[in-house]
Amino acid sequence: MLRILSAIVLLVVLLTACEVYDPLVDYDVKQPVTLHDVPVIPSDYPPEQVARGKYLAEILACGVCHTDGALVGEPDMTRHFAGSSTGTAYSNPLVVKKPGVVYPANITPDPETGIGRWNDDALMRLLRTGVDAHGEQQLPVMPWPAYARIVEEDARAIIAFLRSLEPVRNKVPKNVEPGQRAVSPYVHFGVYESKR
Ligand code: HEC
Repeated sequence: MLRILSAIVLLVVLLTACEVYDPLVDYDVKQPVTLHDVPVIPSDYPPEQVARGKYLAEILACGVCHTDGALVGEPDMTRHFAGSSTGTAYSNPLVVKKPGVVYPANITPDPETGIGRWNDDALMRLLRTGVDAHGEQQLPVMPWPAYARIVEEDARAIIAFLRSLEPVRNKVPKNVEPGQRAVSPYVHFGVYESKR
């Protein structure tokens, strides 16, 4: 009797161990919103230049990172381009427990929390080299290496578009150093290849 019982127990244990874990039981898959129509307001820039900048910003996906909620399919329509409280981990959270995290900045013309005090050349330099208005090198999570060869005319059009956005006051969470706890959520991109 005892033997049969222990055989059953063993079978149950084995079956449980073999059960394939399905993460979709615990998690929902979120799809980012890649296109969201952003209203522009009249500015000193020619409307054709602003329209060209808007088109470029859309296809270069600036708003996906720089708009709260866009990464999880729920862009905050009152805060287009005003930064995101969903950050991106730049070290691997599967390898180190507390990765470094950067939060996409507010790039509306608000002078306090956005790019209102940056001049055109500073914005151009950031786009092409990732060096910010204070001379600091930003992380390539902001895909400046991919934008490095943008021609001046296109960069100026993007700048004209950014300056024609409604200024929104919104402070994004401070970037988190590796080893510190991130209080705001983050995404992580990794490529995983099976070892066996
Ligand atoms: C993959 C996500 C992503 C995309 C796409 C992206 N950015 Fe960024 N951007 C970031 C992050 C993250 C930062 C902050 C980097 C840091 O703090 O080191 C940033 C920083 C910036 C800054 C500096 C602002 C500041 O106050 O420091 C500007 C300006 C900017 N981005 C403009 C743009 C423009 C214009 C586009 C499209 C042409 C764009 N970004 C596309 C993620 C992105």
